[in-house]
Amino acid sequence: MGVSKNGFDINNINCSDYGQADFANFTGEDLFEVSEYFWAFLQDAYKKKYMVYGNPIVTAPVSEIDVYDRYVESERRFLNFCSYNYLGYSCNPEVIKAVQDGLSKYGTGAVSAPLLSGYYDISKKLEDEIAKFKKKEGAVVFPTGYGTNLGVLSCLLKPGDVAVLDILSHASIYDGVRLAGADIKVFNHNNSRHLEKVLKGLNGKRAIVCVEGVYSMDGDIAHLPEIVEVCKRYGVRILLDEAHSTLIFGENGRGVAEHYGLEDSIDITIGTFSKSFGAIGGFVTGNKKLMAYLRMFSGSYVFSCAMAPHTAAGILKVLELYKKDKTERNKLWENTKYMQERLTAAGLDIGDTKSQVIPVFVGSDLRLREISKKIYEKGLYTGVVTYPAVSNKRTRLRLSISSQHTKEQMDSCVAILQEVFESVGNFEVKKRYKKSVVT
Ligand SMILES: Cc1ncc(COP(=O)(O)O)c(C=O)c1O
Repeated sequence: MGVSKNGFDINNINCSDYGQADFANFTGEDLFEVSEYFWAFLQDAYKKKYMVYGNPIVTAPVSEIDVYDRYVESERRFLNFCSYNYLGYSCNPEVIKAVQDGLSKYGTGAVSAPLLSGYYDISKKLEDEIAKFKKKEGAVVFPTGYGTNLGVLSCLLKPGDVAVLDILSHASIYDGVRLAGADIKVFNHNNSRHLEKVLKGLNGKRAIVCVEGVYSMDGDIAHLPEIVEVCKRYGVRILLDEAHSTLIFGENGRGVAEHYGLEDSIDITIGTFSKSFGAIGGFVTGNKKLMAYLRMFSGSYVFSCAMAPHTAAGILKVLELYKKDKTERNKLWENTKYMQERLTAAGLDIGDTKSQVIPVFVGSDLRLREISKKIYEKGLYTGVVTYPAVSNKRTRLRLSISSQHTKEQMDSCVAILQEVFESVGNFEVKKRYKKSVVT
């Protein structure tokens, strides 16, 4: 081991010369060779204090958290703009009590796959309540949101079918289609004219169009009216992933389809419990025959242990609280608008976000490393997003706004970002190795 066939020198890896994509696309002589080079990269990144991932949080994910900082080897207090605890339910006392009661009654886990003995009265109740909430005939609850997209798409599509994806679709959507062995065609983000062009070229193949309510890395929302209109004209199915929009958009919180009054035009809807619900898990809703089929043939449902019953108990409590009182949601929207305005006024580029997911665009990987190191030192915790979650030229900090943030916390966040962005120049990764696939 020394110099790899694609030019990496194990004894001389300067992390500033590389982006994450270089390692994702590395092919060595041996399958594990990449880990040797990545290890050398990591050691240099640690030395320069660029590695801000993987520091354990030692408190609940509220708006200020304590984090174990590996660089000072002790706990430090951070402003938390990273958790998906949009409505604060993960720490709501009534939700915690419901989970505790569920734990006492059912124990710590489902301890079986749902088709065997992992399906409890409370699992069925959750599916019934979600179907009722979403005004659909049925729902199936999966252990994760990722597994929901994976299971649904890999089950419905077959080789020869086509999934037409908005290019910014979540990894779980891409992975589900890949698992099915179906073809992937992408259309430019939110561009119904380009979507039409792609659909025209399908030559009668079976197809499903996949879009997201709120785009998870950009915070903008699907241009659903135009997209639905095109899909109807071409007679293709639509899947809508409302992971970040459930409980936030639509008068009753059913998501972006409700916001546009288009719920009846969506064939299949995905959601997660890991965001506004403050828990873990995912769900699919649609007509009862489709749900019955998915329940039997979605691999990530059939072959994986079911959601823990106490988790279902907590989610049911969130639904109950949410239906009675929208204070948290109203507060979230106030905070979201405040932050969007403040960040824009500070001269930061937040793209076209329309939601509580707010990207602050950075540029190259190296600039992201410099900026994330500095905000980390100043006690601000945000999503630090690079390849493969986004292209390596469109890296960003991603802020998740919560109803729990105070004005003072939001002002401090903006002040830190403004100071750090102003102090860091514009520079790019000087590549020795130019082979990044994603641009
Ligand atoms: C649009 C979208 N779909 C699915 C998922 C996966 O959900 P989970 O994290 O609950 O597995 C995410 C996660 O962030 C997402 O943003």
